Amino acid sequence: MQSISIEKITERADRMDLLYDKGNRINYLKAIEKRVSRRAYLNQKIEADKLERIREAIRHYNKLSGLSIQLIEDGSQAFNGLRKSYGMFYGVRTLIALVGKTADPHIKEKAGYFGELLILEATALGLGTCFVGASYDKKNCPCQIGADESLICVITMGPVNEKPGLREKAIYHMTHRKSIKLEELYEADMEVPSWFMKGVKAAQLAPSAINRHPVRFVYKKGEVYAYVKDTSDFNLVDLGIAKANFEIGAEGKFEYGNYGRFVKTIKN
Ligand SMILES: Cc1cc2nc3c(=O)[nH]c(=O)nc-3n(C[C@H](O)[C@H](O)[C@H](O)COP(=O)(O)O)c2cc1C
Repeated sequence: MQSISIEKITERADRMDLLYDKGNRINYLKAIEKRVSRRAYLNQKIEADKLERIREAIRHYNKLSGLSIQLIEDGSQAFNGLRKSYGMFYGVRTLIALVGKTADPHIKEKAGYFGELLILEATALGLGTCFVGASYDKKNCPCQIGADESLICVITMGPVNEKPGLREKAIYHMTHRKSIKLEELYEADMEVPSWFMKGVKAAQLAPSAINRHPVRFVYKKGEVYAYVKDTSDFNLVDLGIAKANFEIGAEGKFEYGNYGRFVKTIKN
């Protein structure tokens, strides 16, 4: 295996600014534990200070990633109406559109990674969220997509009841197959350190399309990397999401890419 380049690590070094001051990491770990996909939103606007915080995070992540993530205050036209969201969502108003350069080889992974960081930010602010790749009207999404850009997926975001109602619970059970076991999520050739397991546990709580959890973490010959066997559908988006959660749990950074390696940045 080639050794990891310093440039690749420094390229990612700023990425966690919003996460890695100490108090914030704890908030993100709490958000990872608290987060579940929410599909029924209250008829209330998001408070201005919360929206500004999300906007600030988007500006920061766009700079770091080269993506063109957009906050759409009223994106209801892509959801409301039974046909548009297949009856899965209710009361959707605010969206985050995950848009990037079609030619970017990591566009899907970045959409997942930065989308998940935004979801954790929103969860910490008490908002409900859901990644949505399929059950919305993509053509009617009021976001700006340049000729050289693609919309990967959206995130719904907004005020929700503390506990999901009956209808939301029913949809949750429809989309949420059994939880994946920790042992299914990693491969190792020796006993793994506790920080590695903290990463895997955080990844176990990550959202994934149809709750498939396609990402595997590997600890072999002292190296840690993450991969998906099949790169089709939303699997590379899921890779970015799982890497974000793992990084927060294990305190380190991944290279971009399938089989991208992890470097621990905080010694413990
Ligand atoms: C890339 C991606 C695409 C998704 N697309 C949809 C979707 O189209 N419709 C939907 O209802 N949920 C969608 N979800 C939400 C998943 O169904 C949900 O994350 C999964 O069932 C796990 O449940 P949890 O998020 O509550 O842990 C998507 C999630 C991801 C990560």
